[in-house]
Amino acid sequence: MKKFSYREISDQELQSLTDVIATKFGLDFSNYEKKSLKRGISRLMFKNGFESVLDLWKSLMSARELLPGYIDEMTVNLTELFRNKELWIGLNELIQKNYRGKDKQDLAIWHSGCSTGEEVYSMAILLQENGLWERTWSYATDLNPFAIKSAVKGTFPLVLKSKYLKAFDQCLPDAEFERYFEISMEQNHFGIKKDFTKNIDFQCHNLISDPYKQNSFDLIFCRNVLIYFDDMLKIQILQKLHKSIRKGGFLVIGFYDFMPNDCKHLFEPYDSSARIYKKVDSDDPTHKNEALTARERLKKRLEENYKRM
Ligand SMILES: C[S@@+](CC[C@H](N)C(=O)[O-])C[C@H]1O[C@@H](n2cnc3c(N)ncnc32)[C@H](O)[C@@H]1O
Repeated sequence: MKKFSYREISDQELQSLTDVIATKFGLDFSNYEKKSLKRGISRLMFKNGFESVLDLWKSLMSARELLPGYIDEMTVNLTELFRNKELWIGLNELIQKNYRGKDKQDLAIWHSGCSTGEEVYSMAILLQENGLWERTWSYATDLNPFAIKSAVKGTFPLVLKSKYLKAFDQCLPDAEFERYFEISMEQNHFGIKKDFTKNIDFQCHNLISDPYKQNSFDLIFCRNVLIYFDDMLKIQILQKLHKSIRKGGFLVIGFYDFMPNDCKHLFEPYDSSARIYKKVDSDDPTHKNEALTARERLKKRLEENYKRM
């Protein structure tokens, strides 16, 4: 197989392509971080043997059904079971402190940008270990229909088993891997058992353009997604996520994501080593002044941005 060689994409080429995708298919990539998008496009051109961005553009125009595959290449879908040990240890503590116990209500969790589902299944296992899986509803979404299709299957290549087993043991030393996964030697994969898929609603959802469920979740994951958006888009998404989390709920971001200053009135650190934030309730008077200044700052920035357009 020929080795991937990066082909430089100019800002103009990028813009022409994202404009077409936006106007023709309603998918807005204009506020994505340029470097990773260009890399994705370059990979897409290499795989399909396109000489120029124009060739790619033309192929999209002639066959709309190619779009999901193109999105699959343009976005980064990297994920793992129990990725970032510190997070899962932190989440275990959070769950035990806030949600364990008979009198507590049902739990609603949203995994936004869930890719092929590894994060969702890791959480399902953690909840089961805490006796909470039966009363959890898990909503798991991604822009990429290929990723969602694969997430629904819940199977992983056998070659990854020892790596995932190690991560599983590090995060949940008392749990048994075999309780959750079954191996299929013929199919060369291992898969999550059906009991741990039944409370999960996998859907395609675009964080930029699709509606958000309001005031609906105790916990939202948005890990390693914001990193691909520019600052303005990050702020807009975090504002919408804030409204989607119930009072007293939590947000999990990725280890390379950061909380912009303009959103610090919306979320306060809960467990910094795990990158978990707690929703700040806007009725809380201690945060009111801070919220106002941050809102004013954002308004100013949005106005400046608007003038530049
Ligand atoms: C690097 S993966 C992160 C997967 C998982 N959250 C984790 O950290 O292991 C980023 C995911 O974000 C998704 N994504 C990118 N843009 C999105 C958007 N506008 N709406 C929803 N998902 C998006 C990609 O399709 C990809 O599956």
